[in-house]
Amino acid sequence: MLASRESFRLSISYKKYRRVNMSVLVISGSGRDQSVSSVVGNWISSEFGFKHFNLSKNKLPVFDGSELTTESQNVQLMLTEMKKAEAIIMIAPEYHGAISGALKNALDYTNNDIFEEKPVLLLAVAGGGKGGINALNNLRTILRALYADVSPRQFVVDSDALDEPKLSENLFDCINGFLLKKSIFDRREVSDYTLSGGEL
Ligand SMILES: Cc1cc2nc3c(=O)[nH]c(=O)nc-3n(C[C@H](O)[C@H](O)[C@H](O)COP(=O)(O)O)c2cc1C
Repeated sequence: MLASRESFRLSISYKKYRRVNMSVLVISGSGRDQSVSSVVGNWISSEFGFKHFNLSKNKLPVFDGSELTTESQNVQLMLTEMKKAEAIIMIAPEYHGAISGALKNALDYTNNDIFEEKPVLLLAVAGGGKGGINALNNLRTILRALYADVSPRQFVVDSDALDEPKLSENLFDCINGFLLKKSIFDRREVSDYTLSGGEL
């Protein structure tokens, strides 16, 4: 279970995943200090060994198109890590039926060169038990505009139910499924499907 926001230890000894040899960047999209998105991002980072770019720690200036903002240290760090990553897991807090301003601001610094064909898994954090889908749909639309290869899988973390016993298991399965699918595609040989054409 996700225990609490402060002591976020997860017991996943019940299940072993195959560690994939892949560089995955986790981006948590809340600007709040006590952010549940950060907690989820830190958990994924420690359990899977992925880098975590946390927007509540690495604050970005408001995008205005100027060199001053684009060349700021945190923006450059984020863009470098995004480019290097073979896949990205993005955590979007739901604010007023959409993603956070902090995450949209971060995405405004990016472009197709970073996202085209990049596998991305979308997660949302929402309160009240019935939110999250608006943030996911909103983020899916934005990433479509950036030509990202967004997974059909997605997951909502209810910020009021971090102790829910199945939460970590289901989140784990969602991430594992995303990673496995990508690695299957990576292993596929071109000859498997291009040299076997012809009428069926
Ligand atoms: C400004 C604001 C707007 C919110 N709007 C929604 C909402 O529309 N739907 C929802 O399910 N939760 C909403 N919430 C609850 C948040 O999704 C919840 O607090 C979540 O933990 C936010 O993620 P964070 O802790 O990483 O910032 C809102 C919270 C804030 C601060």
